Amino acid sequence: MRTSSTRAALDFPGQTGWDFGDYPYALEPLTLPAPPVPVTVAPGSLTGEARDAVDRFLDEARRGFGTTDPVTPDAPSLEQLFWFRWIIGHHVSFAIWRLLADTLAGINAGTGDQDAAAVRLTEYVRAYSGMLLYTGSSTRAIYQRTIRPSMYRQHTKFSGTWAPDYPAVRSLFRGRRPPPVVPAREPELLREIALTNRIHLGVASQLVDQGRSLLQRSVQEGDIGGHRAWGSVFDCYFLTLRGPVTPQEALAQLLRRQRAVAIDLTTNGLHPEAARPHDPVPEELCDPAVSACEKDLIPALVRTAALAAGQSPGAGSGTPAAW
Ligand code: HEM
Repeated sequence: MRTSSTRAALDFPGQTGWDFGDYPYALEPLTLPAPPVPVTVAPGSLTGEARDAVDRFLDEARRGFGTTDPVTPDAPSLEQLFWFRWIIGHHVSFAIWRLLADTLAGINAGTGDQDAAAVRLTEYVRAYSGMLLYTGSSTRAIYQRTIRPSMYRQHTKFSGTWAPDYPAVRSLFRGRRPPPVVPAREPELLREIALTNRIHLGVASQLVDQGRSLLQRSVQEGDIGGHRAWGSVFDCYFLTLRGPVTPQEALAQLLRRQRAVAIDLTTNGLHPEAARPHDPVPEELCDPAVSACEKDLIPALVRTAALAAGQSPGAGSGTPAAW
């Protein structure tokens, strides 16, 4: 039986003020079905309240998301914000990986509109790049003092390779052969995948001494851990439950988080003033394509929301240029 708090966490977001968790920068658990159960809503299948909720979200996005209590320079406030970003940014990434996996399955099977599928794939990859920047936007000091030790406490070899939702998309990011998208769409997809890998390296290098070479070595050598992949430890750490949620509930949880992320970014910016002085930026992130991705962070989330709701490419693109 679902409790009222579980039901609230599976519901579409409201439209005024902060309504995620119990207060600004609080968290909620994410519930997803275990892979490979699809989470994508069928085009045109949303009706009634669900369709109204998506329309309201896209309307709010067009007008501009509001703000909430800004972060302050004291350590507890900064830690709360960057912890929130670390967990919620992973949640949004998990949801995007699942949308990517569903889209890839349709492309590999040759079913559905292949051009639209290629556009969706590329948009989801771009939104994931934005999420890497957002999730990894912590100061190096807070990452070292709070975030990294929290993973180490769960397991000294805690690893991104344990993420249960990732195997279905690993070959997209690491594979030698691109998926069989319509040829005209392939160059843009490959550019976005290269950007994702560059940003992952950049974030690793920004937050961890030797982070760049650690990541490069493990990509070259495959899994170097020689330990068990504990998907359930990974899920528990990231407040993620596995259960029978419908595609509509998966979408609602994604929109709840996208709205909270957008309000945070509108309030604090990706690199909050309160966290000055900012850390040095590694070479991977000193790139016009990365700056463009930073500016595109909220619009990319909104386009992803529209596509995930089954709308055609272009439906979520009328977002203000100021973003
Ligand atoms: C910002 C959020 C991040 C996300 C969403 C993320 C996600 C992932 C994922 C999904 C993998 C598995 C890749 C595969 O199996 O092919 C991975 C691996 C890895 N990531 Fe990240 N990552 C993030 C930040 C970082 C940071 C800050 C570091 C710092 C060093 C890092 C270092 C690594 C390394 C070394 C691996 C290789 C596997 C391992 O030994 O754990 N990542 N990451």
